[in-house]
Amino acid sequence: MEQLLEKLLESAKKDIAQTDALERLKDMEVKYLGRKGEMTVLFQGIADIPKEERPHMGQICNRIKKEMEALLAEKHAILEEQEISRKLETGFFDTSIPGTGYDVGHIHPMSQTQREVEKIFSEMGFTIMDGPEIESEYYNFESLNVPADHPARDMQDTFFLKDKHEHHHGRMVLRTQTSPVQIRSMEKLGAPLRIIVPGRVFRYEATDASHDTTFYQVEGMLIDENISLSHLKGIMKEFLTRLFHREMKTRFRPGYFPFVEPGIELDMSCIFCNEKGCRICKHTGWIEFMGAGMVHPNVLRAGNIDPEKYQGWAFGFGLTRLVMMKYAIDDIRLLTSGELRFLKQF
Ligand code: FA5
Repeated sequence: MEQLLEKLLESAKKDIAQTDALERLKDMEVKYLGRKGEMTVLFQGIADIPKEERPHMGQICNRIKKEMEALLAEKHAILEEQEISRKLETGFFDTSIPGTGYDVGHIHPMSQTQREVEKIFSEMGFTIMDGPEIESEYYNFESLNVPADHPARDMQDTFFLKDKHEHHHGRMVLRTQTSPVQIRSMEKLGAPLRIIVPGRVFRYEATDASHDTTFYQVEGMLIDENISLSHLKGIMKEFLTRLFHREMKTRFRPGYFPFVEPGIELDMSCIFCNEKGCRICKHTGWIEFMGAGMVHPNVLRAGNIDPEKYQGWAFGFGLTRLVMMKYAIDDIRLLTSGELRFLKQF
């Protein structure tokens, strides 16, 4: 029996050495060590030999079994490594291919809405303008008819940059509104002009569910001959109707901004209750949408435009608030949180 075992080990060594694939190695394992394999049969044979020889034979059986197991494990490691290198060589396993099953992400809801706004106004002939987020006091306030001692300066709490001045243009601030781009655009384009300015603005304010220190506005301005607020009404009705894909109404209320005269607030139909009155519109059927008005002659002059020849209107609305309304977001701070569980809903 001992000879038989040694022979078996020899044959297993030969077989395993000749095995060149992982699947076939598995067959070898079954053949020698499986439940009905050669070793198992021999083990069972121990019962038939004389009692005093059994422990000795048992030991030999175990040694041979262990040796076979070791041979199989060694070969398994070799074959596995060969298989990986073969896959690498044949290009089957391309390490440069990105992983699968991950999320590539999407456009942020703020940007999605900004793009929709830009598209609608572009189609109506408006040019999209951009301006600096770090602005001089001149562009952010003075040129907009808000002198340094004017109480209206207090309407917008401002971040000032330490010790930074622009020659003749005062201290530098983080712009509190997109309105400075009114002046920059008039300087650049002259009259007539039709622009919108989406952009980020900053205010030194306590944050809550509807106020943040950083948010987005969209400025609008139209300057030409014979322009009145009825043009603004038509443009905004059309804009809101296209944006919300339903017939929208607007209404004017008086409002005050130093850079317009007269100044107005524009309300739009409540999109939550179809003007029937609900909690969100405080049962009025209307939602405050933006500030606007006829451009003040001082502002036209600051932009080198002759107020005797041209006039026009300007408006400014909170893009962030619009996004909150569009998607029924109840806390403004979610939009800048980078919170994936929130962002993945869009
Ligand atoms: C202005 O900033 C004027 N420049 C708008 C304007 C332009 C009027 C042209 C006339 C002509 P106001 O401070 O009201 O106005 O801000 C405009 C909008 O910004 C608000 O209606 C609101 O939607 C949004 N907004 C203001 N403060 C915050 C804030 N802290 N967080 C989020 N949105 C804000």
